[in-house]
Amino acid sequence: MKIIQISDFHLRGDGKLSFHKADTIAAMEHTIKYFCERKEYELPEFFVITGDLADGGTKEGYELIYKAIKRLPRPCFVVPGNHDKREYFLEMFKEQAPVKDDIKPYICYTIDLTPIRIIVVDTSKPACHSGGLTDTVAQWLEQKLMEYPKKPTLVFTHHPPFTTGLPAMDEGFDQADRFAEILRQHENVRLCCGHMHTGIFTNWKGISCVTCPPVAMQMEVDFRGKNSPDLTEEEKSDDFKGGGDRFFLGNPAYLLHDLQGDMINTHYMIIPIGADYSGPWPFKYYDGEED
Ligand SMILES: [Fe+2]
Ligand SMILES: [Fe+2]
Repeated sequence: MKIIQISDFHLRGDGKLSFHKADTIAAMEHTIKYFCERKEYELPEFFVITGDLADGGTKEGYELIYKAIKRLPRPCFVVPGNHDKREYFLEMFKEQAPVKDDIKPYICYTIDLTPIRIIVVDTSKPACHSGGLTDTVAQWLEQKLMEYPKKPTLVFTHHPPFTTGLPAMDEGFDQADRFAEILRQHENVRLCCGHMHTGIFTNWKGISCVTCPPVAMQMEVDFRGKNSPDLTEEEKSDDFKGGGDRFFLGNPAYLLHDLQGDMINTHYMIIPIGADYSGPWPFKYYDGEED
């Protein structure tokens, strides 16, 4: 059984380039076309998109992504990111985010019909770039994980709870220790995140974790802090925020999670669209826009 994780479309419905540089509609079109052209044996049971579906806060972006994911050759589930709005998820993505009434407005749900169990956890905080767990979500997750404590399970979130080493992205995660304690009670779980726009594979407090590369805007992997002695004069004058705040226009990429026995192997896959990898460009918002 296979599950494909894709992440961070950042679609805009207003025709503007994302962060002044990225044609996210083109990246989306390439990605959807690529999956539509896969042979039957290459296709997963379903897709999971780990957040930042749309950008700029307008409904038009969600309408674009909604129509796009309906074209995918398999069902698709969605996870909210810091650029997303819960109200649009609850209103427009009823099939793609089957949230039960007892946990609304959090976009949390499980998919239980397949040999790999899926648990989607909402780590977004309205109008905030960083993420975390609320008490309500933490209790819900603990209860859900204990329903099947041995079944191979993928927990999907947008924000990673662990330190990444990219200073501008390491903003902390509410109740990270509690999150780890809850996950550790399960025997066979992998935490699969988005948000980082680059693939990271790690073991966090005994838990296997990955972050998914993006559809749009490949992160520059730069570990320098904003006061690093290695900054150039140009970076100093540009108010460099630390590594983790610039991107390249790269090829879209994704993760393929494949069940072998009771083990889930995760493959890093690239969609070759001939991107020029220009950059790095800053994640710079338009005037008046926030995270
Ligand atoms: Fe993102
Ligand atoms: Fe994000």
